[in-house]
Amino acid sequence: MSLPKKLFIKTYGCQMNVYDSERMSEALGGEGYVPTDRPEEADMILLNTCHIREKAAEKVYSELGRMRGLKEARPDLKIGVAGCVAQAEGEEIMRRQPLVDLVVGPQSYHRLPQMEARLRAGERALDTDFPEEDKFAHLGKRPKAARGPTAFLTVQEGCDKFCAFCVVPYTRGAEVSRPAARIIAEARELVERGVREITLLGQNVNAYHGHEGGLAGLIGALARIDGLERLRYTTSHPNDMDDALIAAHGEEAKLMPYLHLPVQSGSDRVLKAMNRKHTAEGYLRLIERIRAARPDILLSGDFIVGFPGETEEDFEATMALVRSVRYGQCYSFKYSTRPGTPAAERAQVGEAEKDNRLQRLQALLTQQQRALQDEMVGRDVSVLFERSGREPGQMVGKSDHLHSVHVAGEGIARGDLRRVRITASGTNSLAGTLL
Ligand code: 5AD
Ligand code: SF4
Repeated sequence: MSLPKKLFIKTYGCQMNVYDSERMSEALGGEGYVPTDRPEEADMILLNTCHIREKAAEKVYSELGRMRGLKEARPDLKIGVAGCVAQAEGEEIMRRQPLVDLVVGPQSYHRLPQMEARLRAGERALDTDFPEEDKFAHLGKRPKAARGPTAFLTVQEGCDKFCAFCVVPYTRGAEVSRPAARIIAEARELVERGVREITLLGQNVNAYHGHEGGLAGLIGALARIDGLERLRYTTSHPNDMDDALIAAHGEEAKLMPYLHLPVQSGSDRVLKAMNRKHTAEGYLRLIERIRAARPDILLSGDFIVGFPGETEEDFEATMALVRSVRYGQCYSFKYSTRPGTPAAERAQVGEAEKDNRLQRLQALLTQQQRALQDEMVGRDVSVLFERSGREPGQMVGKSDHLHSVHVAGEGIARGDLRRVRITASGTNSLAGTLL
């Protein structure tokens, strides 16, 4: 038998790319590739890219620049670009970057084995179609090897919302839900391999419609799998939080009290210009209903500052919304012009103004995050342990609220779900003792 070839995948961007990288690695596993974490010994390097903001996309080009040396040293090395930059700029990459052998869009990676065969024949390969067939069905069964206690599982892809700033509807295409039976079968297999917590992924996950009762129905079905202890889902749009899903947060014990629910801005004028199709007040009322169903839920959000036309007053409305919600986790960004999106054509806010607003917003969000984390001290939480910590005998896991928790670990194993009393709150994590 020939020596296995080595595959190095570098993943950028969202959790869906993390899931996609796993599936690409498995697909190429069938072609004799084994994963490596050392690019210099790889026979193939894949960059699984993100196009959401300009900075994310630029990283790909600088990484390709760095790879020139590797390819010169080993001309047989194959270099591929996958993910959303591949989808958006694949043809141009092929034209302008001779060192790239392969470009594969996020809807085509089930065709990687055939593409790899073309590379072996000395050709270059590009596929950025949106094929009719379900790529996950074509990828076939996943391997049976044991794995860590948490996993991502993509249930839905694409988006029909067309927020005026966002490339996702173009790079990932229209909203498609995977059939529930396949998702449930995949979840069962993951549990057999040691997974105890699954995060359901979708660009617009709560628009999922592949099961009766939508995402709530799917969560109910998955919760019946023995050995699966925790469920989460991300990312959601406020307008798709239906009654059943809100109720599930109160009724389904395995659904964790954490919700990522981006609002982007607190100004109705900006929300309208963003084509978000909801108001700040509507969002706040929704949060009230979710908190009525699950009072201890921890909320997380995304914000964009400096969207075209955003005034100081609009920005203050965002600050006011943040103060009234109290977020436990947040991601905030300066607006980044994306070619082909409606907002790209509009008059832009100056860079200095964007910087200034981002700093003020981040200061507020950090302060809130820290305050909510500090409030956990003295409480008892359950922790799913994932890895050993830096100090000898220490184990680290995640609480129900997704806080990292460090515990002195006599007798704790990876995958254990244990009750812990929180004793201290640090910069980015909590410490506790086993109960
Ligand atoms: N500029 C800045 N941030 C953006 N996001 C999406 N598109 C842009 C853009 N053009 C942010 C949104 C979204 C998150 C995934 O990325 O906040 O929720
Ligand atoms: Fe982009 Fe999310 Fe808006 Fe869809 S809902 S267009 S993925 S920001």
